[in-house]
Amino acid sequence: MELRAVRGMNDILPDEVEHWHRLETAFRRHAELHGYAEVRTPLLETTALFVRQIGETTDVVEKEMYSFERHGESLTVRPEGTASAARAYVEHQIAAKEPVSRWYYLGPMFRGERPAKGRYRQFYQAGCELYGDAGPLCDAEMIQLVAGFFQDIGISAFQVHVNSLGSGDTRARYREALLQYFTPMRDKLSEDSQRRLDKNPLRILDSKSQADKDAAVGAPSITSLLDEADREHFERLCHHLTVLGVPFVVDPTLVRGLDYYTRTLFEVRATESDLGAQNTLCGGGRYDGMIESLGGPKVPAIGFAMGLERILATMPRTAAPRGPGAYLLPLAAEGADKALLLARELRALGVTTEIDGRGGKLKTMLGRAERRGASICVILGDEVSRGVVSVKQLATRTQEELSLDGAARIIADRLRMSAATPASSAEPRGNR
Ligand code: HAM
Repeated sequence: MELRAVRGMNDILPDEVEHWHRLETAFRRHAELHGYAEVRTPLLETTALFVRQIGETTDVVEKEMYSFERHGESLTVRPEGTASAARAYVEHQIAAKEPVSRWYYLGPMFRGERPAKGRYRQFYQAGCELYGDAGPLCDAEMIQLVAGFFQDIGISAFQVHVNSLGSGDTRARYREALLQYFTPMRDKLSEDSQRRLDKNPLRILDSKSQADKDAAVGAPSITSLLDEADREHFERLCHHLTVLGVPFVVDPTLVRGLDYYTRTLFEVRATESDLGAQNTLCGGGRYDGMIESLGGPKVPAIGFAMGLERILATMPRTAAPRGPGAYLLPLAAEGADKALLLARELRALGVTTEIDGRGGKLKTMLGRAERRGASICVILGDEVSRGVVSVKQLATRTQEELSLDGAARIIADRLRMSAATPASSAEPRGNR
């Protein structure tokens, strides 16, 4: 039997990981610039955490969780990060230590969804959660963080959707209004939505089925049910976004698939990508009741998470990563010893260095260095008997001889200089 990766779970090979590193580094930088610090929670949590926080009638809890029994306990591999972070926030009594906390996380999440482009069973999220500030100002700043991040990594074709679900009993009143609206057309709804109708009619608005979309055309809008305070919160959010110059659309059909949200909801969707229905790059919102429902104090919270596979499929890759700084080609036995020593010296100076120990003709070895994307080739052939090496800059094709003594430092300087000069540093490596 052929052993393969589990369906919907992908290997990310070193070539691809380079792009991930750049994306993750950019995310960390943005989050940290906004005052967020990283939190790492376990991949496994008790099943009850997700059932209670995400909601029993959501798709995630109803059919997508990887849950199992062990030592008499039901455990679940995390399908998302918000409930875990909130659990940790309450468990470690963070509210008693600081009034406002800003946490971010990066890591794999697991949902047994039907795999498609942009939809996997193991996928990676980067997210931020902010505890302790109820104001619309931080909602706007958070949306701006996401929009600024996308711009920074070269994604400009996206649209920000915002909505408010209100607080208190607004959701319950909206549920009632939708129930009344959809019940007479129950037969026209998809099978899933017929089932959802009594339990969670909001989810019908979120459905991908065309029949449900048609049925929802005249559905009541939540905006008319918002109370004064909720309406003001939402208006201030829209005002702040306008001041910040973040373009957005108010989308009363935006409900999102998780039950914990209150007030602000937002999504960022790619407008030019081949992700099809999986074009939501980022989703988030306020969940002012979660901390209290986990046994903590009354602390408001807001957060978002973005899907890294979807972002990588959307972002331009022109500034492709480069190969090693120095690529050493030992041509003879004596060259091999010198190459080992020179490589050690170069790495101590911070130069990424590889030795091609496979031997062969010089032309073949130079070809390999090109394909590897190296910046500088160091040839250790007959010349080492004279105490020198030949150093070739691959971008400019210039070659020079350098004394072995001191060659490492000169190579390191050359690389530093070429990295500072855009013309030679950004040689694209093409699609690899
Ligand atoms: P979510 O909308 O379920 O929200 O997921 C957030 C993002 O994760 C999606 O917009 C998408 O980019 C990505 N994503 C979700 N499922 C998959 C999948 N199967 N394959 C690939 N990418 C996927 C949450 O998870 C909330 N915890 C967000 C949040 C944080 N709300 C408040 N704080």
